Amino acid sequence: MNKDHEINRINWNKRTEAHFKHPDYKVKQFLDGTFKLHPLELEEMGDVSGKSLLHLQCHFGMDSLAWSRLGAHVTGIDISDDSIKRANELKDKAELDARFIRTDIFDLPDVLDEQFDIVYTSYGVLWWISDIKRWAEIVARYVKPGGIFYIAETHPFLDMLDQDKKFIEPYFHSGAEHYPNEPDYCDKDLILEDEVGWRWSLGDVVTSLVQAGMTIEYLHEFPFCVYDRWPNFIKDDDGWYFYPDGKKDIPMTFSIRAIKM
Ligand SMILES: C[S@@+](CC[C@H](N)C(=O)[O-])C[C@H]1O[C@@H](n2cnc3c(N)ncnc32)[C@H](O)[C@@H]1O
Repeated sequence: MNKDHEINRINWNKRTEAHFKHPDYKVKQFLDGTFKLHPLELEEMGDVSGKSLLHLQCHFGMDSLAWSRLGAHVTGIDISDDSIKRANELKDKAELDARFIRTDIFDLPDVLDEQFDIVYTSYGVLWWISDIKRWAEIVARYVKPGGIFYIAETHPFLDMLDQDKKFIEPYFHSGAEHYPNEPDYCDKDLILEDEVGWRWSLGDVVTSLVQAGMTIEYLHEFPFCVYDRWPNFIKDDDGWYFYPDGKKDIPMTFSIRAIKM
């Protein structure tokens, strides 16, 4: 395995247990049936009933199983051993049907030889991708002709701003970035030894998908994000986070829907 991905596998094994128990991840609500995916992906994905769905970077499979509850035939893949273990436990507890595979996304073609009606991935995934062109080729490889790829993800523009909307980072980056001794975004008491990430612009993502043979149906941008990027962020009833001024003037989330012709 790529040594940077190995660092991230260990990092995600440490996070999984903390996330599984953390109230923000809503495992309890998932098990009692009240957990819902965001209205954004529910609306933009449309009816998944009866469709085969590959969930890339599925973490401990709660979103994957939520799609399964809506009638999709789900396969979830993730690099973290503990995430896949928890995903299988959650599947059994919820009495749902899904298949989970532990693999680095870049090794997926070695272990999975199928195509899907829908390839899906969401929120907090691209940072872990070391090669965006190869990622897009893998995405395209798994979409059936006539099928779709859908991603909802935090907008790269948000990384540029601090909690007062002042610029703190450039938009363009290159190469891997190491973050030793960072707290987890959810369980702030969990300090992680190391993580490696890569930042991709919207142009990188769109161009890679197009060059991999996907036809972009849309690229949407939204003025809210899925997590409390800064401590002063406020949350609305749908679970989205905003700057405290409440203005809808910054792109904080994007979604892309693409078709394989
Ligand atoms: C922020 S989580 C995504 C959570 C997702 N929104 C969900 O459905 O719960 C990022 C996931 O990417 C996984 N990951 C990181 N690098 C990976 C890689 N190279 N191959 C496959 N999965 C990877 C991590 O293990 C983690 O579960």
